[in-house]
Amino acid sequence: VQQLPPHQISLLFCVFVFFTSTLCFPPGFIFNLVAPPQDLQITDPGLLGVLDIEWKPPPNVQTFNECTVKYKFEYRSAGDRDWKVIFTRKLKFRVGFDLSRTAEVRVQTLLEGTCTDDVEVQSDWIYATFQVPLPGKLESEVQNFHCIYHDWEYLKCTWQPGLLAPRGVRYGLYYWYEGLDHAVQCNDYIQDRGINIGCTLQNLSQAEYQDLSICVNGSAAATLLRPLYVTLRLHNLAKPSPPEQLVVSVSAVEELQVAWSPPAGGTPPHCLEYEVQLAQEEGEAEAAWASVSMQMETALTISRANKSHISCVRVRGRTNIFCADQGFWSDWTQECFSGMEPKVTSVSFTSFIKPVWDQALMAAMGICWCPALGDGILV
Ligand SMILES: *[C@@H]1O[C@H](CO)[C@@H](O)[C@H](O)[C@H]1NC(C)=O
Ligand SMILES: *[C@@H]1O[C@H](CO)[C@@H](O)[C@H](O)[C@H]1NC(C)=O
Ligand SMILES: *[C@@H]1O[C@H](CO)[C@@H](O)[C@H](O)[C@H]1NC(C)=O
Repeated sequence: VQQLPPHQISLLFCVFVFFTSTLCFPPGFIFNLVAPPQDLQITDPGLLGVLDIEWKPPPNVQTFNECTVKYKFEYRSAGDRDWKVIFTRKLKFRVGFDLSRTAEVRVQTLLEGTCTDDVEVQSDWIYATFQVPLPGKLESEVQNFHCIYHDWEYLKCTWQPGLLAPRGVRYGLYYWYEGLDHAVQCNDYIQDRGINIGCTLQNLSQAEYQDLSICVNGSAAATLLRPLYVTLRLHNLAKPSPPEQLVVSVSAVEELQVAWSPPAGGTPPHCLEYEVQLAQEEGEAEAAWASVSMQMETALTISRANKSHISCVRVRGRTNIFCADQGFWSDWTQECFSGMEPKVTSVSFTSFIKPVWDQALMAAMGICWCPALGDGILV
């Protein structure tokens, strides 16, 4: 019988120790090493879309001086499938929730370092839930709540009274975003027969690219009304004004040179994309529009199908994917021109004289601001 070499014996020994230790100390043993955090609490700071969550370290935390103690903090609104996860050493957080639903949070302790042989050890979870008071029946909530962020300058929100709204109902819109000390009431309501059915909010540039919390609540004699809670992202609700200074000209090779300027107002020009459509009129019939381009540039050359007809070009803009996930299309800006003559048919102040005047003015000021206007515009 051949003897095993020493290193194989020690390998066998290690395998033996591994299996017996797993049997004697099942994984639960290592979990019990560390306790979950204590005193998990949720409080409402009255800011319409965020809650404050706080907890205390586990009781045995001092015994782990060779290990780091961290927390895995997870939260969601009831009905969401996924938890949002934060790994932290902090003991306090302010996070956004849909306040019309129950807020759910859970926290566990994570321990890692020499005391755990550099293996991450997790405690059990500690849970808490919170619900703001929701008086009144669900049907008493305002309906069809919509908001549009016009030209990145003002937000206009509108709604309709709830189904159970009694006569003489008084609605109020309150809002908050990071940077305001407390929730603020709208001071510019839109009314229909004395009832507030909308609100215009100015000066929200600080609220761009963050959560804007809104609550529309109401009161009526002897009836409780359900408040509506909404969290908005302004950049995803932007609607620009129509593009300006649309100029169409026909080149010698029967190409259409189309050029325009970004709309006036607060919309950042680099945040826009444009759709260009062309219609070739068939006699008296209504023009059939066909999309010819989606682009971020403000000029386009289109080869022309039929030179003997009146044609029209129209352009509209919306926020591009570099600035937002979504947005609203602007209204169209349109120009028509006749078949043979390489000229703009509607020479209005805004479409022809104004751009030239603006160019001259800007040139005089030494500022070049207008994007490439093609050849032949001034013909
Ligand atoms: C706009 O809001 C800022 C703070 O966000 C404030 O300092 C400023 O006075 C406001 N301007 C107007 C015109 O309301
Ligand atoms: C509406 O909500 C605001 C902000 O939370 C609150 O100050 C106000 O009292 C509420 N009004 C009614 C009628 O519930
Ligand atoms: C151009 O217009 C003429 C006259 O209506 C028509 O017969 C012809 O098919 C058109 N051609 C194109 C390419 O649309």
